[in-house]
Amino acid sequence: MLVDSGSDPAALLLAWYDRHKRILPWRALPGETANPYKVWLSEIMLQQTTVAAVKPYFRAFTTRWPTVEALANAPEADVMAAWAGLGYYARARNLVACARAVTATGGRFPDTEEGLRTLPGVGRYTAAAVAAIAFDRRAVVIDANVERVVSRLFAIEEPLPSSRPKIDALADSITPATRSGDFAQAMMDLGATICTARSPACVICPLAEPCAARLTGAPETYPRKAPKAARPVKRGTIFWLQAEDHVLLVRRPPKGMLGGMRALPSGPWTLADPGFTEAPADLNWCEAGQGRHLFTHFALDYRVVAARLPRRTDTDEWWPIAELDKAGLPTLFAHAAAFVSREPA
Ligand code: ADE
Repeated sequence: MLVDSGSDPAALLLAWYDRHKRILPWRALPGETANPYKVWLSEIMLQQTTVAAVKPYFRAFTTRWPTVEALANAPEADVMAAWAGLGYYARARNLVACARAVTATGGRFPDTEEGLRTLPGVGRYTAAAVAAIAFDRRAVVIDANVERVVSRLFAIEEPLPSSRPKIDALADSITPATRSGDFAQAMMDLGATICTARSPACVICPLAEPCAARLTGAPETYPRKAPKAARPVKRGTIFWLQAEDHVLLVRRPPKGMLGGMRALPSGPWTLADPGFTEAPADLNWCEAGQGRHLFTHFALDYRVVAARLPRRTDTDEWWPIAELDKAGLPTLFAHAAAFVSREPA
C-alpha cells in the first residue's frame, strides 16, 4: 500500500534521505548495523567543525584506534597530538576520558540518552545524537543545521538564542517515533546541502511544501538572530627560542585555553599588551611577525618574537625544527611558527 506522505515533514524528509543521503565514513551502509564507537567519535569531532574537515581526522583515528578499547589504551598525549588542528582541545581530553570510562565498564556504550549523558564530554547534543543514530532510540537531536531548518519550516520570528526552547519543542513535534537517527541526519544533510545559511535551494527542497519561511519570500533571513556582542581583542606574545636546530616547546597547563597541548611558550593573553612577560629567557628578542587568531569568545592579536641560544639547556623540551609538523601544535602555534625564518644560525 502506498502511504501518502502529504506534508508531514518527517515522511517527506526520510523519503528524500533514502535517495540522497551523503555517504560519510561514519555512517552505516544499508544492511550494516551502526557502530556506537564510530558514531560517538564522529559526533564529538563534528561539534563546531565541518564534515569536510572531520573526514581525514576520522579516518586517521579509526585506523590508528579501531575500537573504544584501543583509544582507551592510547597515551593521552598521542590523542591530543592526533587531534591537533580540530580545535576545542578539551574535547580531545574528554575523548580519552570517555573511552576509558566505557572500557572500564565492559566496553559497551550506554544505549540511552540518560546513560550516555553520564560519560565525560557527552552533553545533551551528543547523547541525543548517539542514542538516535547508534541505538535507534527516539531522541530529538538539535545542532546548528537543525536549528536553521526548524526556524525556517515554522518561520520563527523570535531571534536566536532566545528562540531555542521554541525550536526544541517544534523539533520534538516533527521527530518521528521510529528512524529518529535517520531523521536527525536527514535534517543535518538538508541543512548542509539545500537549506544552507545564505542561499537555500528551495526549488529542490523536499520540505518546500510545508515550509513557512519559503512563503515569506526571504527564507535566507531565518533564523532571526539577536545582534552579536563584538568579540574582544586580546594581545599576546609568542616566543620562538631556537638552539642547535631545535625550538623550545612547552606543555600548556591542563586548565584553560588549549589546555594540555604542546605549544610555543607565550605569556598571558590580555587586553593590554603583555610585552615580554613570561619570556622563557632574558634575551634580545626580535619580532618575526604578527597575526590574528579567532577563538570563539575573543580574538588574539599576537606577535611572534624570536631569539637564539648557542646551546640547548638540558631541563626544557627542545623539538627538532625539521620535525615541527609532528609536534601536534594547535593551529595558533603552527601559524605563529610559520612566521619564523628557519635558516640555520
Ligand atoms: N553533523 C553532525 N553530525 C552529523 C552526522 N551524523 N551527519 C552529518 N552531519 C553531521
